[in-house]
Formats: sequence, C-alpha cells, structure tokens
Amino acid sequence: MKVLVVGSGGREHALLWKAAQSPLVTALYAAPGNPGMEALAERVPWDGDLEALAEFAEREGIDLTLVGPEAPLVEGIADRFLERGLLVFGPTQRAAMIEGSKAFAKTLMERYGIPTARYRTFRDPILALEYLEEVGAPVVVKDSGLAAGKGVTVAFDLHQAKQAVANILNRAEGGEVVIEEYLEGVEATVLALTDGKSILPLIPSQDHKRLLDGDQGPMTGGMGAVAPFPMDEATQKQVEEGILKPLIQGLRAEGVLYRGVVYAGLMLTREGPKVLEFNARFGDPEAQAVLPLLESDLVELALRVAEGRLEGARPVWKPMAAAAIVLASPGYPEAPRKGIPLRIPEPPEGVLVFHAGTRLGPQGLETSGGRVLNVVGLGKDLEEALGRAYAFIPQIGFPGAIYRKDIGKKALRR
Ligand code: AMP
Ligand code: GLY
Repeated sequence: MKVLVVGSGGREHALLWKAAQSPLVTALYAAPGNPGMEALAERVPWDGDLEALAEFAEREGIDLTLVGPEAPLVEGIADRFLERGLLVFGPTQRAAMIEGSKAFAKTLMERYGIPTARYRTFRDPILALEYLEEVGAPVVVKDSGLAAGKGVTVAFDLHQAKQAVANILNRAEGGEVVIEEYLEGVEATVLALTDGKSILPLIPSQDHKRLLDGDQGPMTGGMGAVAPFPMDEATQKQVEEGILKPLIQGLRAEGVLYRGVVYAGLMLTREGPKVLEFNARFGDPEAQAVLPLLESDLVELALRVAEGRLEGARPVWKPMAAAAIVLASPGYPEAPRKGIPLRIPEPPEGVLVFHAGTRLGPQGLETSGGRVLNVVGLGKDLEEALGRAYAFIPQIGFPGAIYRKDIGKKALRR
C-alpha cells in the first residue's frame, strides 16, 4: 500500500514513524513533511492547495491518506479525496466542525446530553460584556473559530475576561465568542478512533498547555504529553459511554458520518469527566506519546476506519509508558526565532526524536517554527520514560530552547 501523511509537525512525524512499521506499507509520502521524515518517506512539496493534493494522490495511486492537522480537515480535504474515490483517515468538513466551530460543538453537546461547561455564545460585544457582569469571574472566554490552541483565556478577574472578549469581537472580520463556566479539576485527553459507527478509545494521555512550569505563562499548542495517563475504569467507561458514543451517535443523527480520530479534551471534575473541547484529529503532542505505545498496526486500524470496518478491532498496547517533551524556539508562542542551528545526535535506546518546526537551511538543520522538536522517552513506567527523555535533552538543546522541566509531575502524583 502507498500511504500519504498530510502535515509537517511532530504529530505527523510520529504518525509516519508508526506507519513505517506496518507490513502493509510499500511506500510512504509526506505532504509537505519536515526534514525529520526524510529517512521514512518521500516528501511531496505542498502549499496547502487541497485539490492539487487530491490530484497528486490520484495520479500517484495513494491507497490511504492520513490527515494530521485541523486546518485542512476544516477546509474539507477529506471531501476532496472522497470525491475522487480515495480512502482517507480524517473527517469530512461537516464532521470536522466539532473542532472548527466551538459554538457548533457546544450545541451538539447540549442536544445529545454530553457533559460540558455551561456556556453562552455571542457576536455582539455589548451583550457579551453584560453577560460577563452577570456571571462574574472566574470565567473562560474562547474564540469560536480555529486558533491553534491559543484562542482561550481562563480569566480570574472580569477585566481580563472583558479584554479577551474585546480581542475576539472587535476584529474587522467579526467573530464569535463562547463564554463558559470555569471548571475545576484535572485535565486529560482521550483520543478515539471511529468509523462513524464503532468507537475505539485509545489509552488516555495528558498534555501540558501552558508555556511554563507549574502551569504558568501563556497557552500554547502543548508543551509535553504523557501516556498512559492514570484514569480509573469507571471514568474511562463514563468517557466512552457518556461522551464518545453520544457524540458519534449524535453526529449520525444529524446526518454526519465521522471517520478518523476524535480528540476529547476533558476536565475530570468532582461530578465526573466534562468536555473542554473536541478536536477532529490526533493531539499534538499527545500523539507523540500515545503512538509509540501502540503495538498494533496503525495502518491496518486506519484502513478499517476509512473503510467503515472498525467494529471488533482490538488494539494491543505495549505495557510501557511514554513522555513527550516539547523543545520550543526562544520567543514562542508570540514570536519564535527561526534559523537557529540544530545538531541532533543519534538518540539512545528508549528515546525517540520527532521533528516539528525544523528546516534545512544553507548551513544544515535549523529551527523554522515554534515547537521545534519532541523528545520522547519510553520506559517500563512513567518515571523511567521521563528520566530517559530528560537525560537526552541536554545533548540536543539549542541556544535559548524553551522546555518544561515538570512534564508528567501531575500524572506521577496520581
Ligand atoms: P480548549 O482549547 O477549549 O481546550 O482550551 C484550552 C485550555 O483552556 C484547556 O486545555 C484548559 O486548560 C483551559 N480551559 C478551557 N475551558 C475551560 C473551562 N471551562 N474551565 C477551566 N479551564 C478551561
Ligand atoms: N495538544 C493539544 C491539541 O492538540 O489540541
């Protein structure tokens, strides 16, 4: 089989690395990919034009396409591939609205009884500010559209909340804001494969969204992830029965067949798990921690998803733990520095390096974006996994590299 992975981040590097282990695969392609993927796949230059990529896939006889990032999904990449009769792992444009529009996701959750924070949506700044006065702080303000994980303000005072509303609604192109109840608890991620009928949760994981240790500093796309995140059976059951199944059944009732991976961002509250957000793709960096623990063939699973044959699939997991630490460029998330030279020695046993914001400059490998590298440690338990990842980082650290020193601390305490 010829398999194409769409995207260029750490998540896509992990997807390719895992796909490369499949006996079903004869050739791998990455569009546009990154330099870390060059040993695994043929890189296909791609500027984001969906029709051009679908045409390439048809011409090249690609058997299965795995889409990593949200932007092309929300733009309808799956629809373009399906129109040409090409198999794709990733939801259609309508189905991807669970991520593309927070307002849509909230309505769906309300309609199908999925536990989530109470909320209101606004396009009118006056009404939004009035509502803020009514509910008071703490409160959470979200941009309804895509914002690369950076459109959320958890406001502990009203001034900050109002500022966030103004930032979202006072843009020239207009916007929509979601104002929701602040939830207290522990955050966790559950990714689940679905063919629109069956749902198959993967092992739970936990991201670290803030830039700095102790969950301080600005929101980012994610600074590190651990898997499996300890979650008791009862909670896992609640997530599957009370969140994932109603989501898929609800979408079907709306006439939407979802095929790909669903990302449930959860707050584990005293009243049980509640949804913070749904995404239409693997998490980044959650995928970099979860996929290395999957013993089963990812390509076979993805094929079953794309063909609607997921029922009865039973993925096998390695009895191990993984920790993915993100190294970001100085200036991240506002203005990450590009062009910093990188030297990455061969990682030791039990350590993987997935590239994200890297590129080949005239002098060789260098930084090209915010999150630059993921160092993934694997071990018999989380402690060993973290130890391996953190021991390797000093060998590849580039000048000014930002990374958190406390990834996995919360999971270890549980
Ligand atoms: P989201 O992109 O909606 O997942 O929000 C990003 C981050 O904001 C989450 O990972 C949480 O840390 C935080 N957050 C979002 N919604 C809430 C909420 N209702 N209560 C508390 N924290 C939240
Ligand atoms: N790690 C958070 C996300 O992928 O949305």
